[in-house]
Amino acid sequence: METSKVHLGSWIVLVSLLVLELLSSRGWNRSIWTSISSFPQQNETSSIPKDELKAALEGASMENKTLIITVVNKAYTKEGSLLDLFLQSFQLGEETQFLRNHLLLVTVDQTSFDRCNLQGLHCYKLMTDGVDFSGEKIYMSNDFIKMMWSRTVFLADVLRRGYNFIFTDMDVLWLRNPFERLSHEGEDLQISCDDYNGQPSDWANPINTGFYFVASNNKTIALFDTWYAARNDTDGLKDQDVLGRLIREGVIEQLDLRVRFLDTVYFGGFCSSGRDYGKVVTMHANCCRTIQAKIRDLRAILNGWIKFKGQSNGTSTEESNSTSNVRWPIQKACMRSWRIQPNSTSTLNQTSTSSNQTVTHVNQTIV
Ligand SMILES: *[C@@H]1O[C@H](CO)[C@@H](O)[C@H](O)[C@H]1NC(C)=O
Ligand SMILES: *[C@@H]1O[C@H](CO)[C@@H](O)[C@H](O)[C@H]1NC(C)=O
Ligand SMILES: *[C@@H]1O[C@H](CO)[C@@H](O)[C@H](O)[C@H]1NC(C)=O
Ligand SMILES: *[C@@H]1O[C@H](CO)[C@@H](O)[C@H](O)[C@H]1NC(C)=O
Ligand SMILES: *[C@@H]1O[C@H](CO)[C@@H](O)[C@H](O)[C@H]1NC(C)=O
Ligand SMILES: *[C@@H]1O[C@H](CO)[C@@H](O)[C@H](O)[C@H]1NC(C)=O
Ligand SMILES: *[C@@H]1O[C@H](CO)[C@@H](O)[C@H](O)[C@H]1NC(C)=O
Ligand SMILES: *[C@@H]1O[C@H](CO)[C@@H](O)[C@H](O)[C@H]1NC(C)=O
Ligand SMILES: *[C@@H]1O[C@H](CO)[C@@H](O)[C@H](O)[C@H]1NC(C)=O
Ligand SMILES: *[C@@H]1O[C@H](CO)[C@@H](O)[C@H](O)[C@H]1NC(C)=O
Repeated sequence: METSKVHLGSWIVLVSLLVLELLSSRGWNRSIWTSISSFPQQNETSSIPKDELKAALEGASMENKTLIITVVNKAYTKEGSLLDLFLQSFQLGEETQFLRNHLLLVTVDQTSFDRCNLQGLHCYKLMTDGVDFSGEKIYMSNDFIKMMWSRTVFLADVLRRGYNFIFTDMDVLWLRNPFERLSHEGEDLQISCDDYNGQPSDWANPINTGFYFVASNNKTIALFDTWYAARNDTDGLKDQDVLGRLIREGVIEQLDLRVRFLDTVYFGGFCSSGRDYGKVVTMHANCCRTIQAKIRDLRAILNGWIKFKGQSNGTSTEESNSTSNVRWPIQKACMRSWRIQPNSTSTLNQTSTSSNQTVTHVNQTIV
């Protein structure tokens, strides 16, 4: 009895010292600290908790090993921030409610992980060493680019494990079920575009990696590996630009991929046309810099959607002539935020600076 108490006492002291040591060396491998604290059952604390990912994928995926993945940080998950809006769109969309159960939030910091759990979602904490991902990542900052590349590695891992997924940025409203609109003819990759030229297999369509579906197979695994390998730490290109370059250089042919470029009428964004409540499936706040601006403009679109649904009594079908009275709101906040920093390495130059966006640039091509 006596000796075991002594043992216990010294054990506590030892543990406390250890904890103090870790806490006092703040910043020094904070990621190790968080990995210890969030997985206390692991007997080998240094090992990457692979089973956590396995469990997360199994929990979120549908029977056909398909799920929805988004990557978030603290700033995205704040109350009243993009996460709320994003989840609301699932709630208000047509046949999108059940998709919430198949959504996996990949969180890059402890705060967003906690907030994810509070929402009762499927959550997975992505460990990344040495980078603080918790702040708002202004478009094209160094941390923003790092965050993007770490997710490419992660997504390749998901494919390796045999899961198909829709990757979605969190600044995308889901107003209809995308799986209904996606093609099911053995495509490897179906990806949204900043602008769409009417040709679903034309490589010239400028891609947007904020929304895409990818099927798990050897070719797509090779694509993601190639994608990551093509990154260049010095030239500051973001992952989307690098993939766009690979596509222009013929990677689709080299890897024998079946790729479909998605029509912006259905998978739209602020960069492009396709502003029709009768047809929109997803709407991405691209061509927009700050979270606040995105929230404001997406909120306006969601409010319009609520009106639209009220009018059409929630039974709008895409084939109905969508002459709804509900007009698509102008993305005022984003137009302003974009103009603050005109410097962009993005490949498109057309819409981002146009002042009155009521005019559509591309002829509406309805397939
Ligand atoms: C700990 O952090 C230091 C500096 O941040 C870094 O150089 C070192 O590689 C890290 N060690 C591990 C095991 O992550
Ligand atoms: C470590 O954990 C694994 C699984 O959690 C278990 O199978 C193994 O026996 C444990 N090893 C030790 C030394 O406790
Ligand atoms: C998986 O199943 C869901 C639900 O039935 C369906 O909507 C989706 O299209 C399927 N995914 C694939 C890749 O077939
Ligand atoms: C994918 O690669 C694995 C391992 O190289 C191989 O066993 C499998 O047959 C390949 N599958 C396809 C569809 O090529
Ligand atoms: C990386 O980018 C830098 C700066 O643009 C360029 O000089 C270099 O050649 C690039 N390297 C590769 C491998 O593309
Ligand atoms: C919606 O349609 C249903 C059936 O057509 C009808 O009973 C209901 O009153 C309608 N609701 C509104 C708000 O129009
Ligand atoms: C709308 O559709 C209805 C029936 O499908 C048709 O009679 C009507 O002419 C259409 N209106 C327009 C403006 O296309
Ligand atoms: C963009 O920024 C770079 C460096 O930040 C600068 O050299 C370049 O001139 C800028 N380009 C434009 C069009 O402002
Ligand atoms: C739209 O653009 C035209 C021409 O550039 C301009 O005269 C007009 O004031 C603009 N309207 C708005 C609402 O910005
Ligand atoms: C776009 O619309 C204009 C005017 O409606 C038309 O002249 C032009 O041919 C169209 N272009 C395409 C690619 O459809």
